[in-house]
Amino acid sequence: MIYAGNFKTNHTRSSTIDYIKELNFGLKDKKAEDKVYIFPPLTAIDFYRGNFTIGVQNAYPIESGAVTGEVGIEQLEEFNIKTILIGHSERRELLNETQEFVSKKFNFFKERGFEIIYCIGEPLEVRERGEKAVIEYLKEQFIGIDIDYSNFMVAYEPIWAIGTGRSATVEEITTTHNELKKLINRPILYGGSVKKANIAEISSIDSVDGVLVGGASLNSDSFLELVLH
Ligand code: PGA
Repeated sequence: MIYAGNFKTNHTRSSTIDYIKELNFGLKDKKAEDKVYIFPPLTAIDFYRGNFTIGVQNAYPIESGAVTGEVGIEQLEEFNIKTILIGHSERRELLNETQEFVSKKFNFFKERGFEIIYCIGEPLEVRERGEKAVIEYLKEQFIGIDIDYSNFMVAYEPIWAIGTGRSATVEEITTTHNELKKLINRPILYGGSVKKANIAEISSIDSVDGVLVGGASLNSDSFLELVLH
């Protein structure tokens, strides 16, 4: 299983250092085949050592240049960052990232060999129209994406399940992941209110290769409870 923690706009450099210390201590009990990723805010990025990979939640598709407020490859290379989240629904919705821009980003980081966790997910009104509508919607989020790229995985995150405490049901996750597996031959993570109470059932679904966790990753103990469950 893959366990990825997305801090979003939480934690400081100082609290991230403490978190990583606690995480490292707990990860000595991790199963060898499990993989852990942490996505701290950009201000907390550094060379952290441990049995996990540090990635960034975002970057701009540029080496360096005039894009006020963004970071590019030059800034990521300073910390040897080679892993990035692309297409998170918060960026699509709050920051108006279009499919065209998201796919441009995907291709830029693909060309530089980055490991990409590519996020997709439907809003509630689409889920309410049924599984067929969901898959049609999700398919559009692969427009412009090279699904043959060998260094990426998908994170399926229904928007209505993110940060709401209401995760998708085992049946919904199973059906959607199975449909996605017919289209894409890459690991597929589930995200959306993953927590201690549901990690056992979610991780036992065959087509779930891992989880992308927001809220329950913010505290090292609760994240470790998921990783070590
Ligand atoms: P959540 O967030 O676990 O807080 O629902 C998941 C995500 O946005 O990746």
